[in-house]
Amino acid sequence: MKIKSICCIGAGYVGGPTMSIIAQKCPGIKVTVVDVNEKRIAAWNHPDVNNIPIYEPGLSEIVAEARGRNLFFSTEVDKAIDEAEMIFISVNTPTKTYGVGKGMAADLKYIELCARQIARVAKTDKIVVEKSTLPVRTASAIRDILDNTGNGVNFQILSNPEFLAEGTAVEDLLAPDRVLIGGDSTAEGQEAIAELVAIYANWVPRDKILTTNVWSSELSKLTANAFLAQRVSSINAMSELCEKTGADVNEVAKAIGLDSRIGSKFLKASVGFGGSCFQKDILNLVYIAKTYGLNEVADYWEQVIIMNDHQKRRFAKNIIKTLYNTVSGKKITFLGWAFKKDTNDTRESAAIYVADDLLAEQAEICVYDPKVEFEQIQTDLNYLETRSETLNGSGVQVKTDVYEACHNAHAIAVLTEWDEFKTYDWQKIYDNMLKPAFVFDGRNLLDKTTLEKIGFIYQAIGS
Ligand code: NAD
Ligand code: UGA
Repeated sequence: MKIKSICCIGAGYVGGPTMSIIAQKCPGIKVTVVDVNEKRIAAWNHPDVNNIPIYEPGLSEIVAEARGRNLFFSTEVDKAIDEAEMIFISVNTPTKTYGVGKGMAADLKYIELCARQIARVAKTDKIVVEKSTLPVRTASAIRDILDNTGNGVNFQILSNPEFLAEGTAVEDLLAPDRVLIGGDSTAEGQEAIAELVAIYANWVPRDKILTTNVWSSELSKLTANAFLAQRVSSINAMSELCEKTGADVNEVAKAIGLDSRIGSKFLKASVGFGGSCFQKDILNLVYIAKTYGLNEVADYWEQVIIMNDHQKRRFAKNIIKTLYNTVSGKKITFLGWAFKKDTNDTRESAAIYVADDLLAEQAEICVYDPKVEFEQIQTDLNYLETRSETLNGSGVQVKTDVYEACHNAHAIAVLTEWDEFKTYDWQKIYDNMLKPAFVFDGRNLLDKTTLEKIGFIYQAIGS
């Protein structure tokens, strides 16, 4: 069999871009991305591709090329499942907010719903692909549901975790470091693996397509995110020590990164990592380790999160201390709200937690982010339930003009490393701020010498 029809359940940051690339690279395969969120599907189908719901450099061009040809976005989940030979599950797997494992375990309710829906609808054999990030051994739960509630058809379950990073999703998908596919060792399992390998082989060199057993594949995804996040927490831990000792964390990162065993990537000290996955996946890993009674393993990884929370909190504390121990009624301008540059995603962004701490001290926050709007910022703050929605609404304003955002501010805090921040007329910004004018650079993005020459009091992370 050569796959001719694919369905992907979940049209989010993973499902949307991943399926767009598959459709672009495999014009002979019909790819239908379905979601229960009607607004999201409508946005994917918006006549102007610049209005698709996810901002990723290069994505709208790919959608423009493939949409309507062999790429379709729809809310008709049953129909898409029925027609597909291969079904990717790409729904969200957030941290549980209730019950056993609250605050740690992955909430698998959406995964189970998908499995039950596939079982109910499928009238022909299907290959089901776990694209979402899942706890190790989830495939066995999916198998139980499919085999016990289905219509007697055969299912093969593959694990194919996604390693793209937001902001670079298109380039990551076009030229991945590797594609990982886990499946059963049975003949049918190996056949299913071969079908998925054949799809990726349309553009990924064969030696970059790695096949393993299902459990290794599931666990590799959690492990990769844990290792990546651990590097950020490690360099952030060092940034605090640098600040006490006169060392400069950028110099330390460069010096250690030149050791080929360590490598130079992912050593940028920051206000703390954000994003929908690092924290969620490490907490999930900690939870899994604890359920097996591996307390030392759990404690080891939990420290990555503890360090990250500390880094966000100490950034806010430092602003308060530096502004003479009071920020009450002071305007503090945030440059950036997204969790990293080149994305409109704000999930778990450090900016949310820094803002929350400053609002608790009655600061007046003004945000400028090229891709994030007022409603999203309010939603992010309200989700924390620290104070009333009215207070969040009055404590934060959003400007679309950066110079207006910085006008009459006591301080600027850089929370996201958007390239455009480097190109501003910083003299003009300085002239319109209250004095002394402070810049707290949570991304070590701006040039210290230039800013200090203008007259700013400039503070970076780790120096
Ligand atoms: P997302 O929240 O952006 O998208 C998930 C979508 O699934 C939502 O639009 C939701 O409406 C839809 N959905 C949920 N249940 C459904 C159902 N039963 N039927 C139809 N649609 C349903 O999430 P995301 O960022 O795309 O992440 C999805 C998964 O991929 C997660 O497990 C995540 O850990 C993993 N992942 C994410 C990234 C990333 O960069 N965001 C990278 C790698 C892996
Ligand atoms: C991360 C991984 O990089 C992807 O491989 C993975 O697929 C994805 O999680 C996932 O599973 O969701 P993402 O969160 O999109 O991707 O973005 P990253 O580039 O990893 O950045 C995460 C956070 O760490 C950002 O807030 C970023 O600013 C921060 N970071 C990253 C640093 O502070 N310093 C660094 O050196 C690198």
